[in-house]
Amino acid sequence: MYDFRMSTPVVESVLTEQRSFPPAPAFAATARVRPDDLAVLHAEAAADPQAFWAGLARAEIAWRKPFTEVLDESRAPNYRWFADGELNVSWNCLDVHLADRGDKTAIVFEGEPGDVRTLSYRELHAEVCRFANALKARGVERGDRVVIYMPMVPEAVVAMQACARIGAIHSVVFGGFSAISLKERIEDAGARCLVTADGGRRGGQVIELKAAADKALAEGCASIDTVFVLRRTGEPVNMRQDRDVWWHDAVAVQGAHCDPEWVDAEHPLFLLYTSGSTGRPKGIQHSSAGYLLGAKLSSRWVFDLRDDDVFFCTADVGWVTGHSYVAYGPLAAGATIVMYEGAPTYPDGGRFWQLCVRHGVTIFYTAPTAIRALMKLGEEIPARYDLSKLRLLGSVGEPINPEAWMWYHRVIGRERCPIVDTWWQTETGAIMISPLPGVTATKPGSCTRPLPGIFADIVDDEGHSVNTPDAGGYLVIRKPWPSMLRTIWGDNARYLSTYWDKFRHRYYVAGDSAHRDQDGYFWIMGRIDDVLNVAGHRLGTMEIESALVAHPRIAEAAVVGRQHEIKGESVFAYVVCRGARPVGEEAAALTKELRDWVTEQLGAIAKPEDIRYADNLPKTRSGKIMRRLLRAVARGEPITQDISTLENPAIIDQLRG
Ligand code: PRX
Repeated sequence: MYDFRMSTPVVESVLTEQRSFPPAPAFAATARVRPDDLAVLHAEAAADPQAFWAGLARAEIAWRKPFTEVLDESRAPNYRWFADGELNVSWNCLDVHLADRGDKTAIVFEGEPGDVRTLSYRELHAEVCRFANALKARGVERGDRVVIYMPMVPEAVVAMQACARIGAIHSVVFGGFSAISLKERIEDAGARCLVTADGGRRGGQVIELKAAADKALAEGCASIDTVFVLRRTGEPVNMRQDRDVWWHDAVAVQGAHCDPEWVDAEHPLFLLYTSGSTGRPKGIQHSSAGYLLGAKLSSRWVFDLRDDDVFFCTADVGWVTGHSYVAYGPLAAGATIVMYEGAPTYPDGGRFWQLCVRHGVTIFYTAPTAIRALMKLGEEIPARYDLSKLRLLGSVGEPINPEAWMWYHRVIGRERCPIVDTWWQTETGAIMISPLPGVTATKPGSCTRPLPGIFADIVDDEGHSVNTPDAGGYLVIRKPWPSMLRTIWGDNARYLSTYWDKFRHRYYVAGDSAHRDQDGYFWIMGRIDDVLNVAGHRLGTMEIESALVAHPRIAEAAVVGRQHEIKGESVFAYVVCRGARPVGEEAAALTKELRDWVTEQLGAIAKPEDIRYADNLPKTRSGKIMRRLLRAVARGEPITQDISTLENPAIIDQLRG
């Protein structure tokens, strides 16, 4: 049983937040969804959820063959939506716009060095077709897995859309992940093709992607027969003649026409690996039609997208936000998107605002960690930029603390722009709980209410709805929704046990705890499993522990999260060494070595901020590590739990350091 009292939000003051911000009248007057519209949507969804989704699916998706069945529950909770319909996702994102918006800018790209490129819908369509043909020329077929390990450049989106065009299943691996992580994901997916680049630029440095890919492939990945390499940095790379192909050579010989492969609604569109509390990262599998519907509708509803908007979502395509709100949703909605390759603080903390001004950004969507980092650099920086074109701001990935929310509202939104704090997950495919900017009064730190058709609830251990204001519980979704994950690639048993078994397959269990206030607003309290949220990225504590114990000096490790001013949470590791516990300079040297080691094993985002050495770890009699105790020590909180069962109570002082 989970003790909800223990889930301390990132910032305590969330619990006492009372401020409320109604939508600005000027915004509300022209919003796509107005109060009456929302009431109708909610009423329709409540009256007949299947009819509600079916109507939207017919209206929003260009079907090759219309569906006749809405929801197939026969294999629940492996739900199937619109299963006998046929479509192509890339057709729905590109071809449908050619007649009316062919010359409209689809992507404005800015590289970290400042280079700018724009692609109209027609140009993007041509690029996608050429690369789709290049994939086919190398034998990639419907259902094959293609791993994409790219910097944030338009070709990353081109590669994703090209896979969708030919029915190949993409799996994007974030460019910040290590060679070892890449290898694991390639092997789990059994991918036959890898798309990468010589490198990318971030924070003034070159990230050598091809070198990392070579390392991954040298250690396994026997299924890969083709590697496409985009030239981005121009740095020299090794090319293996029989396997590696330059992107520019491959597309140069291909035509700009490629008939889409019509696929079933349930055909997997992509896999995206994400961390869980146990074992290896899991390949979250999404469908074609249901996913597309969620990404497109939420782009319209939540971001109020209209034809003259310029939408800048700062997420990398390596994360789900970069899938739904860069590569798919806004394109399906016919919007103009901004893509930026580099770091928000390069060359200084004004880069995002400079991008907004330069490209006329009207809607800006980022993570609290970025907001906090930029907030720390001072108000003078954004004050230098004319942000008057911005009309809507969004936040995603972790709870936003009221202080950061207020700064975003005042300094970036100039008290004019609504803020949509959007709760969702890799698994949900699209935004689930969020304000609608023309309707919902927002409260700093709350993601407010579920979108129409999303039946979110908070329940206790028995699965009963918790209706006492401010009492915590499990965040669950009571009914299936189209953009939900379909399974975990190659491991349906894990799909069932992770998301469904807890309440006997009745509700989807999100893995977050939450509470509701007297107005029915949801406040996310944090994860209930051993998953950390570091700078908006999910990390499994067990993955980091496994990486640590793979080091020859380490016998045992326990990883917990600790509050961090900018990242929200940071990685705090307790380790037990083989041999004597290091102290002084030896400890400092080992700490550096271990941090580099974890970076190499998993990637820099998993690097422990703190490492503490102990003679042993506190365990219960049954041998379970007392994580709650370790968390309290890491956070400098008082220890409230019973420690009488500890074998060696003196260990506490050692853990405190
Ligand atoms: O704990 C929640 C947190 O991020 C988790 C999902 O992480 P991921 O699958 O990587 O997707 C992130 C981008 C959608 C959730 O279980 N989370 C996400 N958005 C919010 C949030 N926590 C609080 N408020 C949010 N708006």
